[in-house]
Amino acid sequence: MVIASGFPDRNFKGDQKVMKVVLFLCFIALFVLLGAGVKKPSPVIAVEQPIGLSDTIDFAKQIQPIMVKNCSPCHFTGGKMYDKMPFDKDTTIINHENGILKRIKGDENALLKTFIQQNKNSSQQHNDK
Ligand code: HEC
Repeated sequence: MVIASGFPDRNFKGDQKVMKVVLFLCFIALFVLLGAGVKKPSPVIAVEQPIGLSDTIDFAKQIQPIMVKNCSPCHFTGGKMYDKMPFDKDTTIINHENGILKRIKGDENALLKTFIQQNKNSSQQHNDK
C-alpha cells in the first residue's frame, strides 16, 4: 500500500516537471513571436531620395535668367567680376553654392539649390565657403 501510493505521487511530480518545461518553451515561443511581430511592421522609410531626378533643371532656361536678374551686370559679360566669376557658366554656380544661395532667396533659392544638388556629384567641384 505504501509503495502503491508512492508511484502516482512520483508520476504526478514528473508530469509537473514536464508541464514546466512545456510552459517555459511556450514563453520562449511567445517572446520570439512577439519580437518578430514588433519588428515586422516597423516601416523602412527611404530617407535619401535623389532630388528631382525626374525633371532635370535646365541651366540656360531656368538658372541663368535668375542670375542675370539678380547679379547683373557685375558677374556677366563686361562686368567687373565676369573674369573671376562668370555666372553664365553652370560650373561657376555649382562651385559657389554657399556664396550664391545666401544672396538669392525664396523660390529662386530653392531652384538653385536643387540645380546644384543635381549637378554637384557629376562634375568636379571645389566649394568656397
Ligand atoms: C555691383 C556688382 C556686383 C553684383 C550685382 C553682384 N556681385 Fe558678386 N561680387 C562682386 C565683387 C566685386 C566681388 C568680389 C569682391 C567681394 O568678395 O565682395 C563679388 C564676389 C562674389 C562672390 C565670392 C565672394 C563671396 O562673398 O562669396 C560670390 C559668391 C558672389 N559675388 C555672388 C554674387 C551673386 C549670387 C550675386 C547676385 C545675387 C552677385 N554676386 C551680385 C560684385 C557684384
